[in-house]
Amino acid sequence: MKKIGVFTSGGDAPGMNAALRAVVRGCIYYGIEVYGIRYGYKGMIEGDIIPLNSHSVSNIIQRAGTVLKSARCQEFREPEGRKKAYDNLKKFGIDALIAIGGDGTFTGAKIFYEEYSIPVIGIPGTIDNDIYGTDKTIGFDTAVNTALSAVDNIRDTADSHDRVFFIEVMGRDSGYIAIQSGIGGGAEMVMVPETKTTINEVIEALQKGWSRSKTSSIVVIAEGDEEGNAFEISEKVKAKVKDLKDIRVTILGHVQRGGTPTAQDRILASRLGLSAVEGLRDGKTGVMVGVINDEVTFTSFGDSITKQKPLNKDLIRMVEILSI
Ligand code: F6P
Repeated sequence: MKKIGVFTSGGDAPGMNAALRAVVRGCIYYGIEVYGIRYGYKGMIEGDIIPLNSHSVSNIIQRAGTVLKSARCQEFREPEGRKKAYDNLKKFGIDALIAIGGDGTFTGAKIFYEEYSIPVIGIPGTIDNDIYGTDKTIGFDTAVNTALSAVDNIRDTADSHDRVFFIEVMGRDSGYIAIQSGIGGGAEMVMVPETKTTINEVIEALQKGWSRSKTSSIVVIAEGDEEGNAFEISEKVKAKVKDLKDIRVTILGHVQRGGTPTAQDRILASRLGLSAVEGLRDGKTGVMVGVINDEVTFTSFGDSITKQKPLNKDLIRMVEILSI
């Protein structure tokens, strides 16, 4: 293995740059040439590939986003697109890949590896924390802290006006950001896709609080919740409760994808970046590198994509108990 190509793909996540830095510096340390493929699979198809050196990744460990840029690429789903990508890698003499992204990125990497046998290791980078084979994904900790700080701010104004706030956080089909920012922010209720929560249960929780003379309440909703988005849920609640307090809805959205990566994310990313390079050197391929119980592990792409990382149901129970 002489030349590694590295790319970031799918939604960006704070800490991706720290992972890139670790990959580049790890390669240099082991005497491997390293190329950056810009815009993920799109850049692979278009040949947007640049050599990287130690200076290319100076001063980026603290920056969110990805200096390599990212994209979601439809063309790579087609065999013709993947053929173009492979031809470009051959042209640059790239003989192994490191893919930083989420499950969509790993699905592409798995198919590509099966078709062209080019060694590839994935690094989990997504704020959603929805990847099996690692306790945390890069960007999750930062996103939770951003969401938490927003919940705190909203709590201040909710309290002044005796209001009920429905706050929607990201996570696609996963409730990790919601449960952690909800617990950290002392939410009265958290709604996640992993467990069913009815509108009546939400109303009950709110009314319980009011009967104990709570004047404001916060419901944190994961965007993938089965009852709908925060606006829909607030409307459903309004339709059922007559004497409802003033309601407001806040959708946090992409604010959760930016911001200075936390220490945890930078350290996780650095560890995973270097371990990916070392994994390739040890002959590992078709796998994602992760950290479980503080140990570096490798999980097949198949498992990392298809197996569900369960949300600890005890955390949900906790919200109910602690919000009395
Ligand atoms: O996967 C990360 C994520 O931010 C999800 O939480 C969200 O559902 C999605 O990406 C948004 O995607 P986009 O940035 O393409 O709108």
